[in-house]
Amino acid sequence: MNITGTTRIVCIIGDPVSHSLSPSMHNAAFASSGMDWAYVAFRVAPEELTGAVAGLRALGVAGFNVTMPHKNKVAQLVDELSDEARIIGAVNTVQVENGMLVGHNTDGVGLLHSLSADIGFNVAGKKVVVFGAGGASRAIVVALAQAGCAELTIVNRTQDKADILVDLVRTHFSACQVGALGVNADYAEVIRQADLIVNATSVGMHGAEDTPFDTGLISGNHIVYDIVYDPDETALLSRARARGAKALGGKRMLLYQGTAAFEIWTGRKAPVSIMETALRT
Ligand code: ATR
Repeated sequence: MNITGTTRIVCIIGDPVSHSLSPSMHNAAFASSGMDWAYVAFRVAPEELTGAVAGLRALGVAGFNVTMPHKNKVAQLVDELSDEARIIGAVNTVQVENGMLVGHNTDGVGLLHSLSADIGFNVAGKKVVVFGAGGASRAIVVALAQAGCAELTIVNRTQDKADILVDLVRTHFSACQVGALGVNADYAEVIRQADLIVNATSVGMHGAEDTPFDTGLISGNHIVYDIVYDPDETALLSRARARGAKALGGKRMLLYQGTAAFEIWTGRKAPVSIMETALRT
C-alpha cells in the first residue's frame, strides 16, 4: 500500500477492535481496484465516542464502520439515517459527504445478500425462525421483514426482548406475520414449517459444542444460517449439514455487510471474490 498526500481514509471504530477482519477485507479491495484508499482501525472508549465522531467529521474521512459497543450511540450522532438504520436504531456504516454524516446499517442486508448470492434464496414470502433478540437479531429481523418474509418467529431465552422486536416489526412491516416465543416454549412445529432458521445468539461461539436449539428438528428442506463466525464451522452448521440442510456461517454475512459498505463509500461495485479471499486468509 502506498500512502500519499491524497489517500482517502476509511476506518472502523469499536472497543475492542483489534480482532476486526474489516481492515484486511477493505484494504485488499482498495488494492485490487487500484484505489488510493486505506482502511484503519481505531479503538475508541465509550466516553471518547462523541469526540471521535466529531474528529472523523473534521478530518473529512470518506466514511467509517462502527462496531460494538458504539452502534446505538452513533445512530444519535449522525445527521441523517437510512430507513433501516432508523428502524433498527443502530448504525454500522457511516458515509461522510461534504461534512454530512449519513448512518446506514448493512448487517441485515449482508445476511440477505449472502442468502441470494450464495444459495439463490429470496426471503420474500418465506417462513423464518430467528433465535436471539439482541443487537444482531434486531438488524436481521428488520431486514427480513423489509424484504417481505411472510412469517417470522423470534425465539429468545429472555422472551421480553423478543416481544420488543415483535412490536418493532408490527409497527413498521404490517404484512409480516410475526410472533415471539421463549426458549422453553414448544417451537418444534414452527421449526418444522420454517424455510430458514437463523442463529442470531452467541451460542456456539469460540468452538462451544452447544447449539441454540435441538438440531434433531433440522431436515433437508431447511436453510440454516449461523451468524457466529468464530469458528467458521460451528456445531450447529456441521449438524445441519449432516442432516441434509443447506448451511451458511457468519463469515458470509460479514463479507456482504462489507461489500455493501464498500459500495456506499466508493459508489463502485465491490470486488467480492477479493474480499472473500482476504477474509479467508
Ligand atoms: P449481539 O449484539 O451479538 O446480538 P447481544 O445484544 O448481547 O449481542 O445479544 C446476544 C443474544 O444471544 C441474546 O439474544 C441472548 O439472549 P438473552 O436476550 O436472553 O440474553 C442470546 N444468548 C447469549 N447467550 C445465550 C445462551 N447461553 N443461551 C441462549 N441465548 C443466549
